[in-house]
Amino acid sequence: MKKKICIIGTGYVGLITAVGLSSFGNNVIGVDIDEEKVRKLNKGESTLYEPGLEEYLEDNLNNKRISFTTDIEMAILQSEIIFIAVGTPSNENGEAELKYLYNVLDSIIKYSNTYKLVVTKSTVPVGTNRKIKEYFISNKKDFLDIVSNPEFLREGKAIFDFFHPDRIIIGYENENARKIMEEIYSPFLRTTVPFLWCNWETAELIKYASNGFLALKIAYINQISNLCEISGADVYLVAKGMGMDGRIGSKFLHPGPGYGGSCFPKDTRALSKIAESFGTKISLIDAVIDANEKQKEHVFNRFKNKLGDLKNKKIGILGLAFKAETDDIRESPAIYIIDKLKKEKCIISAHDPKARKNFSKIFPDIQYVEDLYDVANDAEAILILTEWNEYKTMDLYEIKKRMKNPYIFDTRKVLREEELKEKGFDYNFVGLK
Ligand code: UGA
Repeated sequence: MKKKICIIGTGYVGLITAVGLSSFGNNVIGVDIDEEKVRKLNKGESTLYEPGLEEYLEDNLNNKRISFTTDIEMAILQSEIIFIAVGTPSNENGEAELKYLYNVLDSIIKYSNTYKLVVTKSTVPVGTNRKIKEYFISNKKDFLDIVSNPEFLREGKAIFDFFHPDRIIIGYENENARKIMEEIYSPFLRTTVPFLWCNWETAELIKYASNGFLALKIAYINQISNLCEISGADVYLVAKGMGMDGRIGSKFLHPGPGYGGSCFPKDTRALSKIAESFGTKISLIDAVIDANEKQKEHVFNRFKNKLGDLKNKKIGILGLAFKAETDDIRESPAIYIIDKLKKEKCIISAHDPKARKNFSKIFPDIQYVEDLYDVANDAEAILILTEWNEYKTMDLYEIKKRMKNPYIFDTRKVLREEELKEKGFDYNFVGLK
């Protein structure tokens, strides 16, 4: 049955969820405080780059199943289900900042006079949904119900992930809430998508424990890759050999310049703080956070050691986004590395197919080029920092022709060693001697 749903917060999670749920036939209102964003979304223009998103957005707008507004009162009044998808960024102590969430809760309390199911999509510390329920009760809105429904979308593959989730996790405390969630996700109940029903705390922790574990896998393979660089072992074959063990699995064992993005860095920090707040410690997570910082440093130092004095050297950068298929640069390793290169007084020319605009807000004073080959002009070195497909197939003869010194440090292993050798490049990969 069609539901009236509003989604508060049209950032990454909110927008994908809004578009996905409206594609299921529900009437969805997306709410945001940013007027410009709302105006664009109502015209069918996506406010972030995500493959496939704009097509779904347009289709749902044409079918009048989705709209966007800044009028939170109207959206709440018209909806029986309210998804909260506002950000919970790190505060200065590394904890999840909940002020945006509580602003939304205050609006929900203010404008709700009948039963509504509130669904927390935002990643929130263990215990938050219980506190939300208590907050409703203390504000005399005990008819408001709450469920925890963490999201597991990957940027760049978010539309696919919405329609093909590995699992749906729902933390709930009463049967009516469960029934409504079953109705919302009924298209998945007819498929093999597994559901896990649990209490609020369990759902909240599944989210952090999952991101923490994936970050741990990456930090682990990065440290193994450092050992490979010294010992002569090949980290890509080590990862392959490890991944052949079904208990380990082959995913998230790709070494690189350290993980970035809007989730792993903030969620690992928050998990550490959550443990602390309960009087315990997850020392492995603290080690992961530290290892990831050191990996960025390690990659930069290797580059610097190779080139010697970097002053006035022209360096070409390929890739600014924290990973391919997104324009998101939040906590991208490129930020750390470019900052260091700038301090060394390098001349930097950078390319990224989607993230240049976002990056130029942080670094307005480096050169950005539209054509990837232009980073090679007179360059003493090229650093590949994001695994965009177009870098995998670039014409290396053309690159070499333009460079002053044909050296490439490929931190994502997008290029083939044999080809670089054959074309006369000097090169390095993360995890290879
Ligand atoms: C991550 C999780 O994968 C999603 O399941 C989760 O929903 C999301 O966070 C979130 O909490 O919202 P995302 O940040 O989009 O998704 O990106 P990932 O594909 O997980 O990559 C994160 C970082 O790890 C990137 O910097 C990537 O380059 C790096 N990475 C990933 C590696 O260095 N090696 C790998 O083998 C895999």
